[in-house]
Amino acid sequence: MKLFYSLIIFSILNNVNCQLLPPLPSPNLTFIDQSLALIFPIIQNFKNTITLDPFGVTKTWTGPDICNYKGFYCDNPPNNSSAISLASIDFNGFQLSAPTLDGFIDQLPDLAIFHANTNNFSGIISSKISNLPYLYELDLSNNQFIGTFPMSILNIKTLTFLDIRYNLLTGIIPPQIFLQYLDAFFLNNNNFIQKLPDSIGSTSAFYLTLANNKFVGPIPPTIGQAPNLLEILLLNNLLTGCIPYELGLLKKAIVIDVGFNTLTGPLPCSLGCLENVEQLNFAGNLLYGQVPEVICSLKNLVNFTLSYNYFTKVGPLCRELIENGVLNVEKNCINGLPNQRPILECVLFRMRIKLCPLQKSLRIIPCNISKFSPHRPERHLISYSALSKHTKLY
Ligand SMILES: *[C@@H]1O[C@H](CO)[C@@H](O)[C@H](O)[C@H]1NC(C)=O
Ligand SMILES: *[C@@H]1O[C@H](CO)[C@@H](O)[C@H](O)[C@H]1NC(C)=O
Ligand SMILES: *[C@@H]1O[C@H](CO)[C@@H](O)[C@H](O)[C@H]1NC(C)=O
Ligand SMILES: *[C@@H]1O[C@H](CO)[C@@H](O)[C@H](O)[C@H]1NC(C)=O
Ligand SMILES: *[C@@H]1O[C@H](CO)[C@@H](O)[C@H](O)[C@H]1NC(C)=O
Ligand SMILES: *[C@@H]1O[C@H](CO)[C@@H](O)[C@H](O)[C@H]1NC(C)=O
Repeated sequence: MKLFYSLIIFSILNNVNCQLLPPLPSPNLTFIDQSLALIFPIIQNFKNTITLDPFGVTKTWTGPDICNYKGFYCDNPPNNSSAISLASIDFNGFQLSAPTLDGFIDQLPDLAIFHANTNNFSGIISSKISNLPYLYELDLSNNQFIGTFPMSILNIKTLTFLDIRYNLLTGIIPPQIFLQYLDAFFLNNNNFIQKLPDSIGSTSAFYLTLANNKFVGPIPPTIGQAPNLLEILLLNNLLTGCIPYELGLLKKAIVIDVGFNTLTGPLPCSLGCLENVEQLNFAGNLLYGQVPEVICSLKNLVNFTLSYNYFTKVGPLCRELIENGVLNVEKNCINGLPNQRPILECVLFRMRIKLCPLQKSLRIIPCNISKFSPHRPERHLISYSALSKHTKLY
C-alpha cells in the first residue's frame, strides 16, 4: 500500500513539470551499504545538473547499485573494512557538461580518487573539497574551471597527485602549495600570473609542470634544493633573468625545459652535473656565450635544444652532438654553422647584452664528473604528455 502510494506521488511529480517542487522522496531502494544510500540523492542531484552527456554514461546512473554506475568504483573505506563505500570516480573522457561540481564531490566522504580529464565541468573549484579526508588523487584537467587557484587544496593533507592543467584558472598559486606533499603537480595551460615563489625549492614533487602560463621573474635559486625532481617544465612563460647556477644541483633530473621564456646570460657550467638528464631545452631565450663543453659531455643526453638564442661558440664535444642530432643550435650566432641568425641581428643583440650579476657562479662545477655512470636505458617521460590535453598521467 505504501509502495503504491509513493508510486502515485512519484508519477504525479514527474508529470507536473515544475522546477520549484521539493526534492523527490527517494524510491524504496535497497542498498548494500548505508553509506551508499546516503550518497544516492547526491549523485542523482548531480545527474540532474548535467546538460550534455554525448556517450550516455548517465543512463547507467539509476537504481541502488551505485558500484556499477559507469565511472563509479566502490571499495572498503579506510576506517571500516566491513563497509562498502564509493572510493573512486573516473570520468576521464566522458565529455560531460555541468555548471559546477559543487555539492557533488565534496559530499562524497570516502572519495579517494577523482579523475575527470576531458569533461566540460565549469564554475569554480569548490572550497568544500577540503572536507574529503581520504582524497589523494585529483585530476580536473581539460575542463572549463574558472577563478583562482582553489586554496582549499592546501588543506587536503592526503593529496599526492594534483592535475589542474588545461583550465581557465588565473591569479596566483599560493606559495604554500610547494610545501605540501605532492608527488606530481601539473598546472600547465592556465593563466597563472606571478613570480615563481622561493618555496618552489621545497617541493617534494617528482613531476612539476608549470608550462604555458604567465609566470614572470627569475627562476628562484632555491630550485636546486628540490630533492625529488625528475621532470620540470617551465616552457612558454615570461621568465626573465639569468639561469641560476643551482639548476645544476638537480642531480636526479631527467627533463629540464625552460624553453621560450626571456632568460638571458650564458649557460652555467653546473649543468654539466646533471648526470641523469636526457632532455634539456633552452630554446627561444636570449642566451649567449659559449655552450659549455661540460654539458655536451653528459652521457645521458638525448635532446639538447638551444635553437633561437644568441650563442656564439661551440667546442668539439658540442660539435659532435650537433652531428649526432642530439644538440640543436639553429638560429644562433655561431660562425661557420648553417642556419644561423643574420649577422645584423647578432650585432644588435651584442649591443644590448645583459650581464649576469653572479658571473663567477656560472663557472663553478659542483660535482665530480669523472664518477658519472654510462648510458641508462631510455625511459618513459611523463611531463611532456602533460602538454597535450587528453592524456592521463597516472
Ligand atoms: C521497502 O520494500 C521492502 C519490500 O520490497 C519492504 O520490506 C520494506 O519494509 C520497505 N521499506 C520501506 C522503508 O518502505
Ligand atoms: C562498519 O560498516 C558496517 C557495514 O556498513 C556497519 O554495520 C558497522 O557498524 C560499521 N562499523 C563501525 C564501527 O561503524
Ligand atoms: C569513517 O570516515 C567517514 C568519513 O570521514 C565518516 O563519515 C565515518 O563516520 C567514519 N566511520 C567510522 C566508523 O569511523
Ligand atoms: C561546454 O559547456 C559550455 C557551457 O557551460 C557550452 O557553452 C559549451 O558548448 C560546452 N562545450 C562542449 C564541447 O560541450
Ligand atoms: C627535442 O626537444 C625539443 C624541445 O622540447 C623538441 O621541440 C624537439 O622535437 C625534440 N627533438 C627530438 C628529435 O625529439
Ligand atoms: C673524483 O673521483 C675520482 C674517482 O672516484 C677520484 O679519484 C678523485 O679524487 C675525485 N676528485 C675529487 C675532486 O673529488
